Amino acid sequence: MGQRARHTRRNPQGLRVKDKTRIVTAGRDTEANLGAVNPPVYHASTILFPTYKDLRSANPFQTDKPYYGRRGTPTTWAFAKAVAELEGGAHTWVFPSGLAAVAATLLAYLNQGDHVLITDSTYEPTRIIAERVLKPKGIEAEYYDPIIGAGIADLIKPNTRLVYLESPGSLTFEVQDIPAIADMAHKAGALVAIDNTWASPLFLKPFGLGVDISIQAATKYIVGHSDAMLGTVTTTEEAWLPLRNCAGFTGQCAGPDDVYLGLRGFRTLDARLRQHQAGAIEVAKWLEGRPEVLQVLHPALPNHPQHEIWKRDFLGASGLFGIVFKTVNERAIEAFLDSLEHFGMGYSWGGFESLAIPAWPSKIRKATKWTLPEPIVRLHIGLEDVGDLIADLFQAFEKFNAAL
Ligand SMILES: Cc1ncc(COP(=O)(O)O)c(C=O)c1O
Repeated sequence: MGQRARHTRRNPQGLRVKDKTRIVTAGRDTEANLGAVNPPVYHASTILFPTYKDLRSANPFQTDKPYYGRRGTPTTWAFAKAVAELEGGAHTWVFPSGLAAVAATLLAYLNQGDHVLITDSTYEPTRIIAERVLKPKGIEAEYYDPIIGAGIADLIKPNTRLVYLESPGSLTFEVQDIPAIADMAHKAGALVAIDNTWASPLFLKPFGLGVDISIQAATKYIVGHSDAMLGTVTTTEEAWLPLRNCAGFTGQCAGPDDVYLGLRGFRTLDARLRQHQAGAIEVAKWLEGRPEVLQVLHPALPNHPQHEIWKRDFLGASGLFGIVFKTVNERAIEAFLDSLEHFGMGYSWGGFESLAIPAWPSKIRKATKWTLPEPIVRLHIGLEDVGDLIADLFQAFEKFNAAL
């Protein structure tokens, strides 16, 4: 699905079209939709061919002509084109969840006897794919320190086919030196994939930094309203075929209503993400001043250890970050989280609502050690009034202190 990205699109004055404009226009074809701004939701399995000749000559992978529902419809292609253009890649395949997109990436580029390097800060279910799906098939996964940078060269083996990044890391928010890692991987003939969900394709342009494959759990900021599951994988022209074949041959397709919600969410991504960013930075700075807080794990704060790398590579920050407490126990965290009124407790993030969950990074790590106090708390700052959120956190600290 998808087409060669039109990321070099220019306006009538010859200037490069800005992302804010692309978000509104990418993948749109109002002429084909009777003038409607949005494409209809095509519910389709069987597609009828008018003649025998049409049936025989149809190409299952062509993305501007319907073939069979599983290959997508104009709703899917509009979304895929929009994501490919914003990521800056050549093609995008749409998956029924972010995790399906991660799994397809690992399975597409790795075969028996291969070795993959995965950042130790990756989303936990990505590790489960490595342990429970790849390993039994004879694919070796090795974890590396997320801040290893060019030092990745020392871990690359003759059979390393893929280096997998996630930046900032899930729960712990280390920012990776993407160009340095990509450079070393490419010198050794390995491909580079990144889970780019935190920044979304708006705030990180992975292909300009040397990445070959970019994954979005579109369930998060692209859908943006906590009401649909969706994933995407975008690749360069050169890396496309293995992904397309793996996804197409294994029947990966997302439901049309969810794809439509993805496209609708996409159109407001810029406006929402900038508000998430502003709210999160304000809350993060307030938290830095709290006596109970040891560290706020937010890449946009100057105190963050990889703040300079974040500033160099990213165009913004989203609403997800962590709090490390100076002294903590589970009773205090329970009191803190239970007393929050405007932060829901639940998995996922990227919707309009604020969320808070506890986390124990030390239980997950393999290549590195997490030595700071646990549990930490991961916050997602939604689109509510920031003053209300801070007031809520203020009263939660009182409950935290009383329970410590
Ligand atoms: C960084 C990251 N990648 C991938 C996923 C998986 O996405 P989904 O929940 O759509 O399967 C998640 C979900 O929380 C995530 O946080």
